[in-house]
Order: sequence, then C-alpha cells, then structure tokens
Amino acid sequence: MTVIERAQYGAAAFEGLTGKLPTTFPRTMGPNAMQYLQEVVESGLSSDMTSRFERRFAEEMGIEHCIATPGCTPALYLLAMALDFAPGDEVIVSPVTDYGTIMGLIKEHYIPVFADVEPGTVNISADTIAPLITDRTRAILAVHKTGIVCDMDPINALAARHNLVVIEDVCQAVFGEYKGRLAGTLGHAAGFSFDSEKTLGSDIGGCLITNDDALAERARFLGHSRGAENKPGFGRMHTAEGTALRMPACTAAITLAQLEIIRDQVAHVDRMARLLTEHLAVIPGITPLPIPSYVDVYSAWMVGFSIDPATFRCTADEFGEQCAAAGIPGIGTARYYLMPAACTFLQEKAAQQVYPYSLPPASRMYTYSSATCPNARAYLDKWLRWSTFCEKYQPEDCVLAAAIVREVADRNRL
Ligand SMILES: Cc1ncc(COP(=O)(O)O)c(C=O)c1O
Repeated sequence: MTVIERAQYGAAAFEGLTGKLPTTFPRTMGPNAMQYLQEVVESGLSSDMTSRFERRFAEEMGIEHCIATPGCTPALYLLAMALDFAPGDEVIVSPVTDYGTIMGLIKEHYIPVFADVEPGTVNISADTIAPLITDRTRAILAVHKTGIVCDMDPINALAARHNLVVIEDVCQAVFGEYKGRLAGTLGHAAGFSFDSEKTLGSDIGGCLITNDDALAERARFLGHSRGAENKPGFGRMHTAEGTALRMPACTAAITLAQLEIIRDQVAHVDRMARLLTEHLAVIPGITPLPIPSYVDVYSAWMVGFSIDPATFRCTADEFGEQCAAAGIPGIGTARYYLMPAACTFLQEKAAQQVYPYSLPPASRMYTYSSATCPNARAYLDKWLRWSTFCEKYQPEDCVLAAAIVREVADRNRL
C-alpha cells in the first residue's frame, strides 16, 4: 500500500509553532463564550443560537442575509450550488488562495479560470481579469489575500459591463474596510471563515452573506433544508439536490462571543500590521507586502515580505528557515497557495478532457500550471509570510520581528 503523507490545514497546521513572538493559540476568547455555550446546553439544545449569530453578523455587516455554515469551504460551496450556473460555465478566480475558495466550483462542475495577480501583490485586479472574460464566464471570485482587499470598484465595474456575479472570499479580511465599506459587502455575495486560526477564530465555522433575497433563500433551501419542501399530507419532498451545511449551535455560541470582541481586535491588528510594514520597509532588500491607500482597515490575517534575490546569497526558503530559527513562528514561503500548480487533479482532468472539461460542456481547452500565472509564481518564489501574526502583537513585537528579519538579511547579504 502506498502511504500518502497527508497535509495538514487550518488549526492543525499551527501545532507546535513557537518562537520569540506571540502565536495565535491559545485564542483570546470573547467574555460571553461560556454563557452562550451554557445557554445552548441549559436550553436542552432548543436555543436559537445559530439564528442569533446569523442575525448579529448580518447586522454588524449591514447586510440582509447571513447563512451560517461549518466553514468557508462549505459557504462557498453552498453559494456555488445556489448560483445554479451550468456545468462548464467559467468562474474567474484568484490564483493565490486556499483550496476552500475553489472546492465548490469544482463540485458544481464549473470551470475555475485563474486570473494572474497584479505584479508584486497577491491579489487579482480588473486588469488581470478582463482578458479572461469569455461568453462562458458567469462570475468573478475575488480573494482578499492576507487581508488586503482587492481593488473592488474597477472589478465591479468590469463585472457590470459583462453581467457577471461578483463573489468575495473574505476568509482573511474579516471586518477589513475598502474605501469606508466592509469587505464582504462589496459584491453580490461573500464567504467567511471562522476556523479557529482565523482572525474571527471560533470552532470550525463560516458563513455566506448577501443582500440578494432569492439567492439567500435558495442557499438556505439547499444547505439548511437539504433541498426539501414540506408537502402537506406527505412531508419532506426533495425537489432539489440539497446538502446539509448548518453551523452547529455550540459553534454559533462561540462565534457570537468572538464577534463581540472582533472590532477592537481588528482595529489593533490594522495598527500593528502597518507598524510592522513601516519597520520592514527600511531594511535593504526587503519589500513588505504593499498596503494600498484604499484599504482603510487592514484586517491582516497574515503578514509578509518579499526578498530581492539579487541582494542575498541564500534562497527565500533558507531566509525563511533562518527567520523561523531566530524566533518568527511559522514563517516560510508558501508556493502551495498557487492553486493552478497545487491542484494536479485539475491539470489531469483538463488535459484528459474529463467532465466537465469534455467538449461540451466545456467550450474550449483549458490548461492549469504555474506558467499561466507568471506574476503569482514569481511573487511566491520570493515571498515569506507568517500567519501566526495576530491580535496579541504589541509595538515591541513588531520591532522584534523586524529586528529578526534585519539580522537574517544582514547575515546573508551579498
Ligand atoms: C482565502 C481562504 N479561502 C477559503 C478558506 C477555507 O475556509 P474554511 O477552512 O473555513 O473552510 C480559507 C482557509 O484557510 C482561506 O484562507
């Protein structure tokens, strides 16, 4: 039997990470977490905790509907189901992301088309999306990677010209702000993650938000009612291929408590990420991830910088290893974020024209490789990031992190 070394993700990927700087775990918990959990138990499991969380999150977002799910992967899956495009329809999506962004597209037999990132960044833009729009494009799925919101006004304008749905993946940018508007309220619908290592860290949770009444109703019907209608004299009649994607009440209790403390945490994270960026920016050969001026609140889930390969005698991986050994927990390169390179099953299906890449429903040949997103590939080759950056950082931690990077840079300077 071939033994596969299974990859870890989410909180499990943070296990054992230590250093001189704060780490994400144990999480800071909202003071009401125990009370809300107790309510669930004392009600004999008859509390309306999940709807309570949904109402509160929708209110905080200033949006009509919140549908709570067990994670963002399920939230975006549910959205993909509810959008009801045809197999073979294309969705233009960020290439630098987590698999959870695209899983739902794949399960619904849509074709992910990866736009490249703007050079020197990890986000897609209207300019990188526009050349990929075809007669089969139905939606744009923009990921606000690291917490930096994509430049959404031009993306929305482009989408409007082509009648496309705009979806935001806000997993890494919860309560981040773009030109005074909250991330997640900038398009047609958005998915959030409340996995325990995320900024709004709960248990394995997530949600979908939208102002579109029909879309919300369809998502609830498919994900919370499993596609079943109540027929008098008969009962549950499954008129659609539904699924079961409800957020459990205990998770909702914790998420609600975490929601009560998130705004202050995000304001603090924004200040710390900007301070760290300032300290890193003055180190020769180091370029911190740029924070565009339209980002009013940088809800940074991770932070990072690129190294100028011509300046150092070591590789980016070695640079990261030395920084980790010197005390930055979890720092390293992250080439695996490049989805067209990471999803070898997509490469194979497209090459072999396996459904939905058969013709039809696909309307053309597709290829997936890092070569289709050269900006992203080039950036990831020299980008170092750490996602143990969190609300526990204080100004002295930003100074220490930058000092470690400077020390490693000076040690390896050519
Ligand atoms: C950008 C992005 N999208 C989607 C996901 C998946 O979220 P979840 O783990 O809640 O399913 C993640 C989680 O790491 C993410 O960072």
